Amino acid sequence: MQVIISHVNLDFDGLASMLAAKKLYPLAKVILPTKQGKSVEQFLALYRDSIKYYSPNQINWENVSEVIMVDTASLKRIGEINNFINGEKVNFIVYDHHQPTEHNVISNETTIEEVGATITLLLEKIKMKNITITAFEATIFALGLYTDTGSFTYLTTTSRDLKAGSYLLEHGANLHIISKYTNTPLNEHNQKLFHSLIQKSEEHYYEGVTILIAYHQQNEYTGGLSLLANKAMEMTGTDALIFVVEMGKRIFIVGRSSSNRVTILPIIKHFSGNGHKKAASAMVKNYNIAHVLDIIRKSIRETVQPAVMAKDIMSSPVKFISSATTIDEATKMVLRYGHTGFPVVDENKLVGVISRRDIDKAKHHGLGHAPVKGYMSTRPITVHSSTVVEEIQKIMINKNIGRLPVLENNELIGIVTRTNVIEFLYGNKNRDYKNNAPKIEVSLIERMNSLLPRDIIELLTKIANLADKMNYPVFLVGGIVRDLILGRRNEDVDVVVEGDGTAFASKLAQEIGGGVRVHEKFGTATWRLPSGLKVDITSARTEYYDFPAALPTVRLSGLREDLYRRDFTINAMAIQLNKDKFGDLIDLFHGYQDISQKKIRTLYNLSFVEDPTRILRAVRFEQRFGFEMDEQTFDLAQTSVDKIRLTSKPRLAYELSKLLSEKHPIESLNRLDEIGVLNFLITVNSYDSSMIKQIKNFKLILDNVSKQLTNPQTNVSQAWICYLVLLFSKHDSGFEQVNMFTLNNENIKTIEEIKALLEGKYHFSKNNTSGSLHHRLKNYRIESILCFTILMQFPNEIVENITRYLIQRQAIPKIINGNDLKSLNINPGPIYSKILQQVECDYLDKKVSSKEEAILLIKENY
Ligand code: CTP
Repeated sequence: MQVIISHVNLDFDGLASMLAAKKLYPLAKVILPTKQGKSVEQFLALYRDSIKYYSPNQINWENVSEVIMVDTASLKRIGEINNFINGEKVNFIVYDHHQPTEHNVISNETTIEEVGATITLLLEKIKMKNITITAFEATIFALGLYTDTGSFTYLTTTSRDLKAGSYLLEHGANLHIISKYTNTPLNEHNQKLFHSLIQKSEEHYYEGVTILIAYHQQNEYTGGLSLLANKAMEMTGTDALIFVVEMGKRIFIVGRSSSNRVTILPIIKHFSGNGHKKAASAMVKNYNIAHVLDIIRKSIRETVQPAVMAKDIMSSPVKFISSATTIDEATKMVLRYGHTGFPVVDENKLVGVISRRDIDKAKHHGLGHAPVKGYMSTRPITVHSSTVVEEIQKIMINKNIGRLPVLENNELIGIVTRTNVIEFLYGNKNRDYKNNAPKIEVSLIERMNSLLPRDIIELLTKIANLADKMNYPVFLVGGIVRDLILGRRNEDVDVVVEGDGTAFASKLAQEIGGGVRVHEKFGTATWRLPSGLKVDITSARTEYYDFPAALPTVRLSGLREDLYRRDFTINAMAIQLNKDKFGDLIDLFHGYQDISQKKIRTLYNLSFVEDPTRILRAVRFEQRFGFEMDEQTFDLAQTSVDKIRLTSKPRLAYELSKLLSEKHPIESLNRLDEIGVLNFLITVNSYDSSMIKQIKNFKLILDNVSKQLTNPQTNVSQAWICYLVLLFSKHDSGFEQVNMFTLNNENIKTIEEIKALLEGKYHFSKNNTSGSLHHRLKNYRIESILCFTILMQFPNEIVENITRYLIQRQAIPKIINGNDLKSLNINPGPIYSKILQQVECDYLDKKVSSKEEAILLIKENY
């Protein structure tokens, strides 16, 4: 026989879990413990007939072979049932969400997981097995869930509990009944007890957290202490509390915490109690209440984790200005960095703070040229590097300030902003605040091993080894990180080193080989390995870097600065390469999240103004990955388009070539048009949508030809320049305009070819054979010819002829060569290429198909 049991003083989670277990083990008998909690007792008084259960003495325990224990795993908590169970004979199946204790039964069928309520665990099984539940059952299950999670507000609540809740509501859980049993009003006695506890409570304050300890003595037992503890937490807003109530010979101890820094369970364990980290209780007999309180007071300090301080969450290094900076310059800084104000520092001393509002006001009054000195707050409120976050939060709220300079030895070492505090409170999972470093949640080692070729992995390991030796933090950055996350191949190794990058590159070359080219101006070096691999190395040094003492706290700020300067969040991630952290993702700006949400987002407001080519890049990434700019980024792109005009043509050309060489050039052009870029690329207003149509046709034909190319030597890399030719085709000086966007001789040649074809005035007709076309077009590349056919608006028959010719052309075999001509005693000279071309034309027109036939023909004609 199977039985289902739970703990004494049965609560709703125990009751719900027993009934849920019955759904999973339908043959088992539900046995109510002899004692139920007050609310459950009241509930059962009403619903007794709707639930089938037994009392322990209705069971023939001899026959019990399996015991399903829910909401407890401890034999100590099941009351007198413990006397009936023959522990050696029975098999236990356990479902529980409490911390294991030494009294737990031994079983290999245990499900003990940290969720808010045990019912969640059982419900997940019910769901998995597709077992139907009635609205009544859903209501009881929900009662268990709501009461044990404090209506989903206790810190023990998990997303699994909420999913369970949603499932129960879908199945008709009655909120009216739930609210009746969860909002139990205090009875008269408990009200008195509550007031006595609050009045007698003593406050203990440790580095920003407050813990209340309160006690009370009474002769008789009254239940509901947990409820009182929850109410007191709510009312006092304390971080944690411990209530100690002597009732007759027994002392009840209840602890609650709402702070991530206070774990109450260890104290309760002193008294052999149990529960969760933040909600636990114990009962002791034969103790003196003063002794209990003494133990609690002595050990309370241990429950508090070290405080998180200003230095742990602050941003550093700080962008500051001097008091002589003009309002105009300050305005630029505000725009550049998107900050809402700056500390003002003169000779290493903080002399004031100026907010964005002050700057705007001064500017509004025409004081752009005045120094900020006259408009800054001269007695700024600051915090020390060791001020705890809770204190910082209070200052920000009480004084309504959003930025607090952080001082150490009277020097500005960082700034804490509202964002820092909010990130800390609401969890930026990527930061480990105690180390002022990003917390690593994602390791990309496996991705790296599967996506990067062996030689690159070996190279990265060598880079890491040297960096470890030189004590430099070193990172892989940029597009390769993004692509590893996206699961795409990318072999561009860009490395950022927090140290002297040039020295690092030289040392690498010295130890591994290859040569280094230093680009002083940009603080970068390119290391070319003998194998042909290329590594770009950038130094990320901070203002503080020269002070070794400051290293542990500011180390990653160099990397942060480097990443912050980049175009989009998805391109501003890094992978650490140092040995013990190899493969760890560093994601300071939520790039990982943006990738999963398919978003292109700039890191700061002036990103496009500083580098308008980024607008083209944004469109490129949109099209390539099927992503989209977020609203703000799109707006910033639109408002910055005019800066395209000021951007150097080669830089634009480089980005255009990359953008238009991607898979979806038409969509990209449409998007550029939507943003308003095209009107700034084409200086005279000569762009209209008919050009996109031409480009579409061109691409259609080119794709069709490309698909049928069999000769791997044939290259069609000039399509993008043809798109530009088509785009500028109605422009008076179209070719000159396109010429400005050329990047290399190939591009120039393509344009020249199209021009020559247009000027050639050949007559094309539908009767042209491939041979006759070859005669005229042999020396022109595929893209130029097709671009020309579009510009000429040839009828379909001609286009088809030309297409057929191009496909045949790339597959012409070399049936004859110069040596063959020599052996025919033809004197070398320009005649050779003429003859060879003629053979090709004849081959295309099927007049010759072999060397012998060709030789025969040559002999006849020459
Ligand atoms: N970058 C930037 N602004 C630019 C160009 C580049 O911030 N105008 C940064 C980005 O962080 C980018 C990195 O430099 O990831 C490398 O640039 P690049 O090689 O041009 O681009 P990738 O992102 O690697 O893209 P692709 O895959 O097209 O090479």
